[in-house]
Amino acid sequence: MENLLSQIAAYKQEIENTQANGSANLEEYRIRFLGTKGIVKAMFGEMKNVPAEQKKEFGAILNEFKQFAEAKYESWKASFSGPDELTNEIDLTLPGDPMNLGSRHPISLVRNEIISIFRRLGFSVAEGPEVEDDWHNFTALNLPENHPARDMQDTFYLNQNPDWLLRTHTSNVQVREMEKGKLPIRIVCPGRVYRNETISARAHCFFHQVEGLYIDEHVSFADLKQTLYFFVQELFGRDVKIRFRPSYFPFTEPSAEMDISCLLCNGKGCNVCKNTGWVEILGCGMVHPQVLENCSIDSNKFTGFAFGMGIERITMLKHQINDLRLFSENDVRFLQQFTASL
Ligand code: DAH
Repeated sequence: MENLLSQIAAYKQEIENTQANGSANLEEYRIRFLGTKGIVKAMFGEMKNVPAEQKKEFGAILNEFKQFAEAKYESWKASFSGPDELTNEIDLTLPGDPMNLGSRHPISLVRNEIISIFRRLGFSVAEGPEVEDDWHNFTALNLPENHPARDMQDTFYLNQNPDWLLRTHTSNVQVREMEKGKLPIRIVCPGRVYRNETISARAHCFFHQVEGLYIDEHVSFADLKQTLYFFVQELFGRDVKIRFRPSYFPFTEPSAEMDISCLLCNGKGCNVCKNTGWVEILGCGMVHPQVLENCSIDSNKFTGFAFGMGIERITMLKHQINDLRLFSENDVRFLQQFTASL
């Protein structure tokens, strides 16, 4: 026991004399005294050689020695100013950790692409509110109260005031722009829209549209067709085939839907095009004179065309995505696949 006590005293002396002057030494110190094979552990191991009646006294001395060694370590460590000391350990020539860059959402990418095509034709971007009143979403667009066509779009109404709703299409922006009374108008209106639909691979309660509107003197259906031909060829390439089918929208007359040849099967027939070889991508038509009049535009002098398309649908066709829900789930494995060029 005498022998052990003098050893401990010598170690304490050594600890006292140790200069706190560098992190490399600190680590050496830690390993020598406090490591799993260090001196403190070894001294505790001597306990078994101490006679039973002295164990208590020796135990107290050991504990005190251990605290002494630990206290030195802690105060030494705390005395470091930080960066200066750290530079000793860090190789400043190593490359940094890679930063994970985010990517644009595929819906934003396709929206930007659509906008840039129409910009080249002289269209500018207009936006409007997502919480809208009945007039701008329905009535002004020739959908008066109780009009059966309102059932085409399942609407979310606001509890506080049933005159307010979440817009069901971006056509509300058409109305707001026409009401400003500045002609001619040549705009595209991108935005989010809402419909009370059960969420599935093919439907969601919100999605995105781009609306287009061109109003001036002498605008004709031929202008509409030519504009949309250009658009589709820019977006999908020169090989895609296009066809117009007569359709019905309350706010246009005549109205049409535009189909493109199915990109997945090249028109041969598959389950995306339901074996027809064609997929519908947008609705369009000549703005109904009543809509012009509702917005105080002289329908004898001005004519115009309008069109509206779903961005999700176009993105799904372009990138062969088969489930609409992927767009809103924020799964990075999905989102990382789209790299931004726009
Ligand atoms: N608003 C229509 C919809 O949400 C899309 C649409 C069709 C917009 C024809 C138009 C149009 O401007 O002329 O289904």
